[in-house]
Amino acid sequence: MVTAVCGPSNVELVRSLGADEVVDYTKRDFTADLDTYDVVFDTVTKSSFRRSRRALRRGGKYLPTSGLANNLWAQGTAFLGKRVVAGMSVDKRATLPFVSALLESGELRVVIDHTYPLSDIAAAHRYADAGHKRGNVVIAVTS
Ligand SMILES: NC(=O)c1ccc[n+]([C@@H]2O[C@H](COP(=O)([O-])OP(=O)(O)OC[C@H]3O[C@@H](n4cnc5c(N)ncnc54)[C@H](OP(=O)(O)O)[C@@H]3O)[C@@H](O)[C@H]2O)c1
Repeated sequence: MVTAVCGPSNVELVRSLGADEVVDYTKRDFTADLDTYDVVFDTVTKSSFRRSRRALRRGGKYLPTSGLANNLWAQGTAFLGKRVVAGMSVDKRATLPFVSALLESGELRVVIDHTYPLSDIAAAHRYADAGHKRGNVVIAVTS
């Protein structure tokens, strides 16, 4: 079962992508769900292990996508077997065909918010830096 966390304007989008439950972060703090989740995967760096660990079940894992503090936590710190697993995928040769198959089967759907030409890269950065993009911003590089 997957619980997704997002803002109010993205609740329906996230549900359509397959989330079983959706938490609107403006209404509810998922870290108040004590001992609930096996994995907390933060793809937008808005949480921390320090706060999220109470929402993890015993043996649960917190997966950050950046953050120095999280990398320090990852250095062997574990509370009731709850721990941080940090770092990028190490075996891309094995991983890419797996991800590719998920895309081809439609199991994994990618949300593209805006596509900019390379000549508009400054505008793309301004848009992404505003912090409210839905999914991904693509830069189209043509020769
Ligand atoms: N290392 C990696 O592989 C990796 C990968 C991806 C991202 N990151 C890091 O993650 C950070 C943010 O990434 P980004 O630029 O892609 O995203 P972003 O533009 O900062 O995040 C946008 C999304 O996050 C939502 N959001 C805001 N506060 C939230 C909260 N408390 N809980 C859940 N969702 C929330 C926003 O919703 P609203 O519009 O409703 O506010 C919006 O949909 C960056 O620092 C980036 O470096 C790292």
